[in-house]
Amino acid sequence: MRKIILLAALITLIASTGADARIKVKGRGANMNFDPASLPPQYAETFNMMTKKCSKCHTMERTVIAIQTGRAPITGQIFDRQAVKAYGIKMLRKPNSEMSKPDIRNVVILLNYILDENKR
Ligand code: HEC
Repeated sequence: MRKIILLAALITLIASTGADARIKVKGRGANMNFDPASLPPQYAETFNMMTKKCSKCHTMERTVIAIQTGRAPITGQIFDRQAVKAYGIKMLRKPNSEMSKPDIRNVVILLNYILDENKR
């Protein structure tokens, strides 16, 4: 009996975390971005900074699609934790990126958080 209750509790737990784990996306096309309401408040500042800096040369759609599908939209490369870091550095090095190393570090932390949430 106890085992059944435990099992039921476990299934409920898995089902409920699965339901709201995926980070939501708002808007379409050029206006597409992660929904800030589905991010913990400590990421709000990084989210705003990322939205501003990472949409200087292209829209946030590119980043959102890479994260949500696990594939970089242009090259078709796998977009995992390693890729997040590699792309962060690649974007930082582009001429006129106007991003600092701490900016990139924070963006990488936030994107990794979203990747992890989406996996659960
Ligand atoms: C200085 C301009 C510039 C800034 C700023 C910039 N990008 Fe990019 N981004 C590009 C260009 C150009 C490409 C086209 C492919 C390439 O050169 O890698 C690109 C491509 C991408 C891709 C798709 C890569 C692929 O292979 O499909 C992603 C994802 C991406 N950027 C994310 C970001 C993120 C996240 C930020 C902010 C940290 C950012 N970009 C800031 C210029 C920029």
